[in-house]
Amino acid sequence: MSPWKIKEDIIFIGVRHWDRRLFDELIPLPDGTSYNSYLVLGTEKVALIDTADPSRREEFFRQLEQTGAKRIDYVISNHAEQDHSGLIPDVLEAFPEAKVVTNEKNKGFLMDLLRIPGDRFMVVADGEEISLGEKTLKFIFTPWVHWPETMVTYLKEDKILFTCDFFGSHLATSDLFADEGTVYESAKRYYAEIMMPFRGVIARNIEKIRAYDFDIIAPSHGPLYKNPEFIIKAYEDWISDRVEKVVLVPYVSMHGSTRVMVEYFVGYLMGKGVKVIPFNLAVTDIGKLAIELVDAAAVVLGSPTVLTGLHPSAVYALYLLNALRPKTRFLSIIGSYGWGGKAVDVAKSLLGNLKAELLEPVLIKGYPTEEAFGKLKKLADNIISRFDTL
Ligand code: FEO
Repeated sequence: MSPWKIKEDIIFIGVRHWDRRLFDELIPLPDGTSYNSYLVLGTEKVALIDTADPSRREEFFRQLEQTGAKRIDYVISNHAEQDHSGLIPDVLEAFPEAKVVTNEKNKGFLMDLLRIPGDRFMVVADGEEISLGEKTLKFIFTPWVHWPETMVTYLKEDKILFTCDFFGSHLATSDLFADEGTVYESAKRYYAEIMMPFRGVIARNIEKIRAYDFDIIAPSHGPLYKNPEFIIKAYEDWISDRVEKVVLVPYVSMHGSTRVMVEYFVGYLMGKGVKVIPFNLAVTDIGKLAIELVDAAAVVLGSPTVLTGLHPSAVYALYLLNALRPKTRFLSIIGSYGWGGKAVDVAKSLLGNLKAELLEPVLIKGYPTEEAFGKLKKLADNIISRFDTL
């Protein structure tokens, strides 16, 4: 496809990866993704903002060629991760006069990750500007969204903020600008999987960029926003301390005992009018769980005991929970064991990052009895009473 003009002399190079289904061999991509870069044609200099994933080299250079650009003076690198930087060496080879413009930290990453020679860089400071003629690029450091070197680039005259991963979405779409109804879940999924562990610094970075006047947010994944408030407000909500009275129940069951416990527990909560979402970890899209973790106040893990510990799928879920650092206020564990075990100790050892309160677990021997159901009822009532205090 041909590149699009966002405004006069600002060209969108949007490399869609329609059929990519996994990122970092970890993150599910049900709707594919895109790697966006931007060509800014100044009267004196030409800048390319970010590149694309090396797996899409051909498509990237096809679109770049279609812009008709005969020179590139600056390659702006907002972030070192290879889905945006991976083609910088190819661009430098194609345009030998080009310099990579970025911060000192990012320079180090790019030299390590891509073996770009040090003399190809122009290092900029936070707030520094470069002139392209009648257009000016200003670099605003926004560290830890989601790597330490991340920054955004502000095109002053045209009021566009190029944010790379910040405000991005893994969504391959033919739309240049976001359809807000469509993009919301993809953007939330992206936030949950990539940004959620950095809530505190994201808040500070949003405050920092709010000092600038911009009409368009142009991320390097997914569509652009011509109503920046839509995505900024969504982020402000996700990073806030607000939680929803929702109980998430990620679970796995080997022979059915834990499943019966989960179904009883979920049914009881539903009967009390509480929103509850079970996720069978054997088949669930882990991204769906991550999306719900953004707001949910409670998580109750269901797991059988395997070799005295938790089922490996439950370990994986807890590892993610701990890594993503959601706002979860209350946690517990339910499940069945055969000959005893240390499921709760294992779970505690995996959750060091979370500040959530651990509510009395319900671990029972064998198939659940009326006594087990009574304990599950007690746990559910405990959660409901905690919800009343929120
Ligand atoms: Fe889209 Fe952190 O790379």
